[in-house]
Amino acid sequence: MKVFKDYYHNTVKLVLGKEAFSKQPKHVWVITRYQGQWLLTKHADRGTEFPGGKVEHGEDAQEAAIREVKEETGGHVSRLNFIGQYYVDGKAGHIIKNIYFANVDEIEDQEHYFETEGPVLLNDIPRNIKKDDRFSFMMKDEVLVHALKVVREKYINK
Ligand code: GTP
Repeated sequence: MKVFKDYYHNTVKLVLGKEAFSKQPKHVWVITRYQGQWLLTKHADRGTEFPGGKVEHGEDAQEAAIREVKEETGGHVSRLNFIGQYYVDGKAGHIIKNIYFANVDEIEDQEHYFETEGPVLLNDIPRNIKKDDRFSFMMKDEVLVHALKVVREKYINK
């Protein structure tokens, strides 16, 4: 298990390759790619981040992940790869989030992208992302670093 502090100094525990904290996590985050680029979304308040959100009633985590990618980017996902799970000990309680990787098959233009301004395609994730205020706090802790390492090693040759 990897333990570190996030952008807000909350303690985060991350386990790769295993649902270590819950079989029914209430949050999901999806590292997505489309035609060789990273696919993110621009959240209205938080800034640019990989898509994700809360698992709704009647959904499992994988269904939520596919829905969130569609809502926030217009991207269609047919296969999810599980990367790991993390636990954030927040000021107002804890959250448990599954991380997936997906290659998006196609991006559909949408009228509405829920709380976001829609898809953002990037060739590279900036090295100094922690100091880049265009990006969301979710992109600024070790979860991204460790998850991207797995994605690069297992799913893309970069
Ligand atoms: P809303 O009901 O959508 O307003 O949710 P919320 O703002 O209460 O946030 P949510 O329940 O999604 O998360 C609660 C808190 O957990 C957030 O304010 C963050 O501090 C923290 N949190 C949520 N997701 C992440 C994440 O991916 N990484 C880190 N480090 N913290 C997170």
